[in-house]
Amino acid sequence: MQKVKLHINGFTRTLLVNAHETLLDTLRERLNLTGTKRGCDQGSCGSCTVLLDGTPVLSCITPTIRCDGRKILTIEGIGVNGHLHPVQERLASDGGLQCGFCTPGVVMTAVPFLQENPDATDDDIKEALSGNLCRCTGYKKIIEAVRHAAEDLRHG
Ligand code: FES
Ligand code: FES
Repeated sequence: MQKVKLHINGFTRTLLVNAHETLLDTLRERLNLTGTKRGCDQGSCGSCTVLLDGTPVLSCITPTIRCDGRKILTIEGIGVNGHLHPVQERLASDGGLQCGFCTPGVVMTAVPFLQENPDATDDDIKEALSGNLCRCTGYKKIIEAVRHAAEDLRHG
């Protein structure tokens, strides 16, 4: 077991973890942050995406010991001042979600992408979200919602 200090959504938690514990297990099973979803559990579906020092990672294949001293942002921490993030607002209002299982992963991929690419085209968004699988929407509405969120963000 190794002691790790995790800075999660603005809070710091110190835990003992074994070498094989994944960040997804730590978040869901030990910290009750169940907004991050377990889909394939093998790095293929994107539903477990969280930000590690601002970069999207697949938490199901990220060992928690690699996160020692680092900043983790999950879907529970993405809202701004108690409000949904514009990407969340648009996914909800523009039909970009149905069952919602893939949605946290989509949000955690799209938010940093739009920060880096505020003028992203639909093709750019498609490419950026290519690792996030959705069984329900057919993707078209997700892409549109993210484009509309980019417009919202550009217009403040
Ligand atoms: S649960 Fe991690 S990529 Fe599918
Ligand atoms: S909304 Fe159901 S998996 Fe995407």
